[in-house]
Amino acid sequence: MTAVGAGLVSCKDLFTNDTSITVSNASVADGTSSSLKDAARRVKKFYGSAISERDIEQDKAYANLISRECSVATTEGAFKWVVIEPSPGQFNFAPADKSINFCAANNIKLRGHTLVWHMARPDWLAYPPKLSDVERHFTAILGRYRNNKTLYSWDIVNEVVADSDKEAEDQNGLRKGVKIEYVRDVFQIAAAIDNTKEFVINDFGCEDAGWKQDKYLNLVKYLKKNDVKLDAVGLQAHMWFSKNYTWNATAFRNFLKQLKGVGVKPIITELDVIIDTPLPNTLAELDTMVADGYKRFLDVCFTEGIDTIITWGLSDKYSWLRHPDYMPKKLAGYKNFIRPLPYDDKLQPKLARKAILESFN
Ligand code: XIL
Repeated sequence: MTAVGAGLVSCKDLFTNDTSITVSNASVADGTSSSLKDAARRVKKFYGSAISERDIEQDKAYANLISRECSVATTEGAFKWVVIEPSPGQFNFAPADKSINFCAANNIKLRGHTLVWHMARPDWLAYPPKLSDVERHFTAILGRYRNNKTLYSWDIVNEVVADSDKEAEDQNGLRKGVKIEYVRDVFQIAAAIDNTKEFVINDFGCEDAGWKQDKYLNLVKYLKKNDVKLDAVGLQAHMWFSKNYTWNATAFRNFLKQLKGVGVKPIITELDVIIDTPLPNTLAELDTMVADGYKRFLDVCFTEGIDTIITWGLSDKYSWLRHPDYMPKKLAGYKNFIRPLPYDDKLQPKLARKAILESFN
């Protein structure tokens, strides 16, 4: 195996721009008979993707793919504070309404993401937002969509648990000024406005054993103990796989059992599969590793009864990990090896799609 992570040896595939791999396209072609949403529905599950109203509008082929494959979806940006309340009391519901109208027309149920997050914030907004700002924000947004039948679930709070004890500001493992009582208060403000939707807390990096998984579980237990309306726990599942380390599937399985044990439903909210360095020599090998990652992850999810799987996009073409702001530094030179989603840049199905389909089947 050529160690390319350190750039020791490069091979022709690393620099080819050709993303159409005959092996994977040929071998997945037979896997496209059923849509992912139908395969999911047959086992009483839901499959979907993040959607951006911009991509849906500008790329009709992509919009059709979302419509064909998804029974659920999550707004990629429409409900983020900087988009929906760019200045105090000034609301821009257009992106959200476009997403909702698209989903309603395509029989897709929509998740609103995300109401309180330290990123995608307007300059005028403190973090954590003052509870008076939260009250105004939630009254306008939750109130507007309270009776909307397409929007069924809210990511109320996103990514409040620190990445490690070094970043944590208290024994609860929270960060950036957020206290555990604040999280409780934010959920209670939301429930006072609309307690009819699914309320979710969402975070990343909790799919493997470790400090963050423990702190996230403690936060969930605290919220439930304090009678907070918390219906589901969102696991973003930006999964990294590599030849050099193994994912602790057993720890993840135990974590899911513990979440269910405290009366909350784990859901997979932003799934994608990134292959870590040292990278394989060819895109075909990479796609096989990505597909294997989906299969291993989903097998644990489904044996533990998870019923909602949302990937953070459908096509590598629109993956957030391709964007310079979010592209992992170590993969910066290998952008065409960032192939984390079921469809490639040309909207062709990949081995990853076949793996997802087989997991449902
Ligand atoms: C990302 C979007 O995909 C990008 O388009 C945007 O520029 C930044 O945010 N965790 C989250 C998501 O909860 O909101 C992030 O989405 C990806 C990481």
